[in-house]
Amino acid sequence: MTLEKEPTILVIFGGMGDLTWRKLAPALYNLLVDHELPERFAIIGLDVKNDSLAEFRLRLKDGANRFCRCGGVDEENWNNISGNINFLSGDFADPAIYAALNERLKAYEKKWDSPANQVLYLATPPGIVETIVKRIGSARLADNEQHVRIVVEKPFGHDLASAVALNAVLTKVFDETQIYRIDHYLGKETVQNILAFRFANALFEPIWDRRYIDHVQITVAEQVGVEHRGEYYEHAGVLRDMIQNHLMQILCLIAMEPMVSFDANEIRNKKVDVLRAIRPTLEDQVQQLAVRGQYGAGRINGHKVPAYRAEPSVATDSPAETFAAIKLFVDNWRWQDVPFYLRTGKRLQKKLSEVMIQFRPVPHQSFPTTATMAWQPNHLIIYIQPEEGIVLQFQAKQPGSILHLSPVDMHFSYQETFKSRLPEAYETLLTDVMMGDATLFMRADQVEASWSALTPILNASENIISADFPNYLSGTWGPEAADILIAQDGRSWNHSTLEENEKK
Ligand code: BG6
Repeated sequence: MTLEKEPTILVIFGGMGDLTWRKLAPALYNLLVDHELPERFAIIGLDVKNDSLAEFRLRLKDGANRFCRCGGVDEENWNNISGNINFLSGDFADPAIYAALNERLKAYEKKWDSPANQVLYLATPPGIVETIVKRIGSARLADNEQHVRIVVEKPFGHDLASAVALNAVLTKVFDETQIYRIDHYLGKETVQNILAFRFANALFEPIWDRRYIDHVQITVAEQVGVEHRGEYYEHAGVLRDMIQNHLMQILCLIAMEPMVSFDANEIRNKKVDVLRAIRPTLEDQVQQLAVRGQYGAGRINGHKVPAYRAEPSVATDSPAETFAAIKLFVDNWRWQDVPFYLRTGKRLQKKLSEVMIQFRPVPHQSFPTTATMAWQPNHLIIYIQPEEGIVLQFQAKQPGSILHLSPVDMHFSYQETFKSRLPEAYETLLTDVMMGDATLFMRADQVEASWSALTPILNASENIISADFPNYLSGTWGPEAADILIAQDGRSWNHSTLEENEKK
């Protein structure tokens, strides 16, 4: 079915910025090549930098060229869009730029002889968001609830209080249905597939609870350091940068109850239920339930890399964490007392995002002990990136006259099965905003519930002395305390990749 695409104008605040260059430009170009953009489509870039239209077009083209999954920009395709790329420069606090924007929007609608969907994308630093929203409100650019949408990037607030305040500013100008809070993890195919895996199959749901599941691990490990984002990271740290949003959202998809329909609000209601059921971590328990770390110098893929404290714009005695591991519980009938271990960090040994579900042991071991030396519990591993697939580990009898059981794997790989590269998260998310589908975006209450769940850990972290920082070497799996966190429960982190499992 071809969905009808209404005329659309994408307005990018922060048009010359890093996000536009690295993520939006390549995503838009891929959508163009795949004929996913509306026929009548225009981009209006806004930036405080005093650049020219030609420079803006070049910047977008360069971003598309470098980062698109299509392998480079084709001139003919580019020419199809380049004429509809516009640029306005000015101060975002100055009403003049909003008046100029309004004129440009109206001119397009006049030219197309049709109202257009207007997607106002805030690809700006968080500090300016409130000002932009207020100015949009004063310029009456948000009044058309049906056609105007705003996209707000993370970080969405710095803590619960600031998130509530930001939501208040946004909802004063926009209706909640117009607000699209992005968490790009939700746009990843492998993350979206969690719902399909759980609810489009009859096999897994009956065993998806505390009776059969021993624990869940959610890992997002990165090899990169903070790169050029030291200034932001000094204020954020990994708890705010990754756990509050990406890892919590994955947790919701794993733990939520089946939705009644695929309606955006129905799915989001089910996710909020999970966040609200997270057991409050008492501040005096934080030391037992959470570990923070910061990378020291080390080697990644054989290359020397500097310590976090030696990165640009980072204080030499910085207390910011670049690694965190936490243990959470979801207090409801399904999950009571099943630990969810969340772990993420920068400069770790491998890039690896995955969810591992470990099932309980069989209730009675009827095989002789000699047969079960290599026995392992069943595991289901959902590989999110860079490899994309699912592995189910179970026991099999090794061929031979002596009875030996050993774990074996069943594999599903996206690349092997679907033979094509998966769309980037931003392609999916941009398409959804243009179509007015908010399923993959966060609602105000979701963001607030997630901050609420994390608040005790954030508060306590601020008081936990980071005297032992840096406490892990770049190129390792993080601080020893993270291994202890899980080992004290008689468990261990999974580090195996899809490829390693395939080779076993
Ligand atoms: C961003 C974080 O949201 O996600 C970054 O701000 C992090 O610090 C990035 O590197 C990871 O995204 P991905 O898609 O590369 O896993």
